[in-house]
Amino acid sequence: MNTADASKIIDGRAIAAQIQTELTAHVAELKRRGVAPGLAFVRVGEDAASKVYVGRKEKACAELGIVSETHVLPDATSEAELLALIGKLNSAKHLHGILVQAPLPKHIRESVVFSTVLPAKDVDGFHPVNVGKLMLGDDTGFKPCTPAGVVELLVRSGVPTTGAEVVILGRGNIVGKPMAAMLCQKGRSANSTVTICHSATRDVKAHCLRADIIVAAMGVAEFLKADMVKPGVVIMDVGVNRVPDATSKTGTKLVGDVDYKNLLPIAGKITPNPGGVGPMTIAMLLQNTVRAAERAAA
Ligand code: GUN
Repeated sequence: MNTADASKIIDGRAIAAQIQTELTAHVAELKRRGVAPGLAFVRVGEDAASKVYVGRKEKACAELGIVSETHVLPDATSEAELLALIGKLNSAKHLHGILVQAPLPKHIRESVVFSTVLPAKDVDGFHPVNVGKLMLGDDTGFKPCTPAGVVELLVRSGVPTTGAEVVILGRGNIVGKPMAAMLCQKGRSANSTVTICHSATRDVKAHCLRADIIVAAMGVAEFLKADMVKPGVVIMDVGVNRVPDATSKTGTKLVGDVDYKNLLPIAGKITPNPGGVGPMTIAMLLQNTVRAAERAAA
């Protein structure tokens, strides 16, 4: 890779590490006041990716000095049993945050589960109260970690968002919709003109071609190609897709939602995958948990 291309890569690992370092002072201050930030993870079933994600989040908590506990429930757990556990975690004084890892088994309604977590402990930002606050531009709520991480990457990489044409690929509740709400708000690190493209969009390429910033979060392997963007575009790749790969030992590999190799020469900036948005999701979870503990201690 030439140096010009190397300088375009947004290093999510380095920026996440910087945020974690900033948070250490907050955790130390909480501990001086006798408060140990506590976070509960809940995982239902044996989804392989969820195991990896929760494992990474547990490790990041331990590194920062957040006390975490993980509750693993069998696939056959009923919705009522899961809600009963969340009720207990809601009233546990030593816990400031609760994260129920998605996806949940099909027989459990995610919306009911996310609505049961106390808004004050909802470090995922999925409770309707926190979703509503995000829509209203009320910063007292918790923001979902992945889109919050994308905003932080844009800000810390010096990408101007005011007046920018942003195209978001995907309309999911975890990334696409909250991403749009964050970037169209009035205020610093927002103020963008936002378009959401989805499976019924007539001409995705036409939208992408006029975008200054593209956030790819629709879960289709290497969907965004070099002929769909204008030179200098900033590309944030949220996708994690497992695809066949005859050259790897496992027979598969992980790729994002963008054709990274061919977009790198055209883009102004681009997130690598892995090492871009992923580490930021964890950094934002740590930040939300520290904030939850600070509010509980105030
Ligand atoms: N599954 C994929 N992303 C997320 C996330 O940010 N939080 C939770 N709880 N589950 C997820």
